[in-house]
Amino acid sequence: MKWVIDTDPGIDDAAAIIAAINLKIMDVVGITTVHGNVGLEHTTRNALKLVELLDSDVPVYRGASAPLLKAPENASQFHGEDGFGNTFLPEPKRNVEKTHAVDFLIQAAHRWDGDLSLLTLGPLTNVALAMAEDRSVQHKIRQIVMMGGTSKARGNTTPLAEFNIYADPEAAAIVFSSGVPIVMVPWETCLDAMLGPDVVAKVRESTSKAGVAFSKAMDLVVSRLHKVLGVEGLLLCDLVAACVAMEPSVVKEKVAARVVVETGGRYSKGLTVVDERMLDGVSPNTTVCLSCDKDRVGEMFLDALGVNHVNWRCSK
Ligand code: RIB
Ligand code: CA
Repeated sequence: MKWVIDTDPGIDDAAAIIAAINLKIMDVVGITTVHGNVGLEHTTRNALKLVELLDSDVPVYRGASAPLLKAPENASQFHGEDGFGNTFLPEPKRNVEKTHAVDFLIQAAHRWDGDLSLLTLGPLTNVALAMAEDRSVQHKIRQIVMMGGTSKARGNTTPLAEFNIYADPEAAAIVFSSGVPIVMVPWETCLDAMLGPDVVAKVRESTSKAGVAFSKAMDLVVSRLHKVLGVEGLLLCDLVAACVAMEPSVVKEKVAARVVVETGGRYSKGLTVVDERMLDGVSPNTTVCLSCDKDRVGEMFLDALGVNHVNWRCSK
């Protein structure tokens, strides 16, 4: 199976990309960048820096710079102005591909018809545009593993909405109604899978180029979590989704549901409405991951960083 990673790096996106490329479980045929945590120029530059630090030849395609309708959001308070912990790494030598990300997604869907999966880690603007431009795409994509949404309406960007969905609710509505099977890794599950201080310490042992760069970038997330939540840990939502994509047994509890996205609502815009009842013949479109094995997520990330973790377990 081939994978495209659609992403807005982003520190946790970086962890996901490091794991996806270094663990060599996913056959990643492309990375498509999108607006989100920070602006498209930064997310695209960060993706190029990452593949360079990883000595990877995975091509990077620049995507949408703004949501379909609403004004762009950003999460620079968590990810830094540069989207990488304000480490301002040197400019990448790698160039972005000439093909636009949306055109690449369409081409990839036709080329690997039925054998292409998407790992989406940011707002869904690129995916929605690809589906709108070529309606056959939704019958060719095998599955979408998505970091996004909420399972119990506990939001991180509004009281009810998670960032990736809230940043472009219209795009999310298109994707959830497309008929492509979705594996949704929601905010609450990622929060419960926060990696502990022992992982933070182990990550700092990495001597790889990507590991050293990530260790510097993650300081902002660690300090922000300590300030906001009063905990010492590493919240890497996108890494959890990447681990689910690579090793589905990471998921400990899941439920089939019909998920729709609220695009109106003064207070509920961006809410993922999770209907487990599915009455009147409504069929499920999403597998909602309710809990994951955070110890295994930690081990996979340390493996990806080349850090020895024999006889190591996350702090409970
Ligand atoms: O809500 C968390 C999600 O929003 C993550 O993907 C993070 O990188 C941001 O994009
Ligand atoms: Ca992201």
